[in-house]
Amino acid sequence: MNKLSPDTRNILEIGSDIGCEVATAVAQRTGANVIGINPSEEFPTAVGPALSNTIFMRADGRSLPFPDNSFDAVLSVATMEHVNGLDIFLSEVDRVLKHKGLFYTEFSPIWSSAKGHHVYAVVGPKEARFWKPGKNPIPDYGHLLMTPEEMREYLCSGPCVEELIIPIIQWIYYGESINRCHFEDYIESFRKSRLVIQTLNFGYDSPDNKTLESLGSKYGTDRNFICSAINVTLRKPPEGISGILFRRYIGAIHWYERQIKRARLRIKMLLFPFSPFRSIWRYLARH
Ligand SMILES: C[S@@+](CC[C@H](N)C(=O)[O-])C[C@H]1O[C@@H](n2cnc3c(N)ncnc32)[C@H](O)[C@@H]1O
Repeated sequence: MNKLSPDTRNILEIGSDIGCEVATAVAQRTGANVIGINPSEEFPTAVGPALSNTIFMRADGRSLPFPDNSFDAVLSVATMEHVNGLDIFLSEVDRVLKHKGLFYTEFSPIWSSAKGHHVYAVVGPKEARFWKPGKNPIPDYGHLLMTPEEMREYLCSGPCVEELIIPIIQWIYYGESINRCHFEDYIESFRKSRLVIQTLNFGYDSPDNKTLESLGSKYGTDRNFICSAINVTLRKPPEGISGILFRRYIGAIHWYERQIKRARLRIKMLLFPFSPFRSIWRYLARH
């Protein structure tokens, strides 16, 4: 929220939580008008009384029911890993944002990371949930390394109750609730969009070398499997020539920052040749 300019008047949250808590908190803290949307049939179920500066409605981030240039800022939390159609989603964000408006999003776990399967299955009182201790039967990276049949055999060997096996396989490999986009797909979509990346931060998993090798031989060694989370700020450039100059300026800053980051990682590798993090540093220096 500290990135928002003081004259921010209209904010959109895409994929609001069912209880509308994030949008309500943003409306309270900024005083701006906040619209929260989610296509879920359960949405919205705000618990407290609605504030006069909030509106909640059912809508899909890929076809936003708002005119062009309507919002000063768009926000989306823990949602992009569920959106099938990242490019359409980003072009809608671009369309409804005003020039110089900000889009902030954070999400995890990305499909190409350890728990990217996001497992969620419920049958009566039995459940599988990737984030609940003792309720996640999928080994880290198992969804990437096992075929559905191999996963079925693995689950039949005992890590979860029988009733959950089919729903788990359905969720991981076939369901619509996760997009199965790899880390590179997000970066590619951000770069392709007309929005300009201003800040980009990652959270990491730390797989062992053997797992990285298996993933590399299945998907190619130039893929990233250690980035589990992304938070990114994108800005819609100003109109006209200043928009072109803005893009060039940000591009140059990014190039410069990347060179510094790579140089730092290479120095670390030289200084700590036996560190267990060496393979990760090497990996990061290449990307
Ligand atoms: C893990 S929940 C996160 C909800 C909330 N932002 C939070 O942090 O608790 C993911 C949400 O993304 C929503 N979602 C999935 N596809 C969407 C789309 N195309 N447009 C908007 N929301 C979507 C789902 O309905 C779901 O509520």
